[in-house]
Amino acid sequence: MSVMAPPCSPSPFADLAFVRGFVRMCDDGWRQGWHERNGGNASYRMTAADVAESRPLMSEADAWTPLDVRAPQLAGAHFLVTVTGSFMRYAAEEPARTCGIVEIDNVGAAYRRVCGFDGDGRPTSEFSGHMLIHAAYAAGEGEQGSDGERGDAALFTDPASRAASPSSLVTPPPRVVYHAHPVPVIALSKLLSPDAAAWSRALWRAMTECVMVFPEGVGVVGFEVPGSMELARASAEQAACGKRAVVWAHHGLLCAGTSFDDAFGRMHAIVKAADIHNTALAVNGVSSSFASNVTDGELRAIAKSLGLALNESYLA
Ligand code: 13P
Ligand code: ZN
Repeated sequence: MSVMAPPCSPSPFADLAFVRGFVRMCDDGWRQGWHERNGGNASYRMTAADVAESRPLMSEADAWTPLDVRAPQLAGAHFLVTVTGSFMRYAAEEPARTCGIVEIDNVGAAYRRVCGFDGDGRPTSEFSGHMLIHAAYAAGEGEQGSDGERGDAALFTDPASRAASPSSLVTPPPRVVYHAHPVPVIALSKLLSPDAAAWSRALWRAMTECVMVFPEGVGVVGFEVPGSMELARASAEQAACGKRAVVWAHHGLLCAGTSFDDAFGRMHAIVKAADIHNTALAVNGVSSSFASNVTDGELRAIAKSLGLALNESYLA
């Protein structure tokens, strides 16, 4: 980035394993057709090993920029994040122009760019939302904010509902937050009201894999202005309740994952299920009473065979 001295060399940055994984996810999404223009964004909460490996490439010259939220759970954390306005189409070609590393200050109230961001780019316009969502997941992990202070995440962190979430019990909390604009999901938001149970049922029933990928169901946020704090907070509430996928009606889908493959795979499965549902609906004359579909009993059987805690409250 141009404000820093010395500028970090793009090539060692692009060679970092976590940067390669991040860029691969962005490029895969572009190839799927999920990222028109600058549509979509992503962030990754780096591990201590990632930070140590990339430390020689970091500069501390950038000024601190206040966050719109306070997230003490993320104090001192580092994130790889996409640049606002950047095109996923160019992620593989120009990684250091498409993303960069930010450091969060020691109270979780500000960030500074420390690597990447070539051309003086800035983090995604939805950075506050990403931070709130990461804060909700990190709160579950208990590895940050050892003083017990929860900041803005306290508004929606509900340990009881998180404990009830099957995903958070069986896998570590997500480090990857990935947002895309997939056509089948946006199209389905024209057909279903923003109701998590209705969406979860429709997606689960579309194909048998779904209940294995998101047994907790999906969260749904009705229309909100892109980049708004309302959208950020509503999404983080879903994360705090253990959801790893949140539909943004008429906008797209946000998925979290413990790895890039996990986040991408969840997005892929949900997009495919929405596509199957929409295709069947169109072929069926726009009626959702299909001659044959996966039943509630069959969903329960899949969950039982794999020892998954299906979110029963979403079944009819
Ligand atoms: P950014 O380019 O600011 O990341 O915005 C993309 C987007 O998809 C907003 O919803
Ligand atoms: Zn978007």
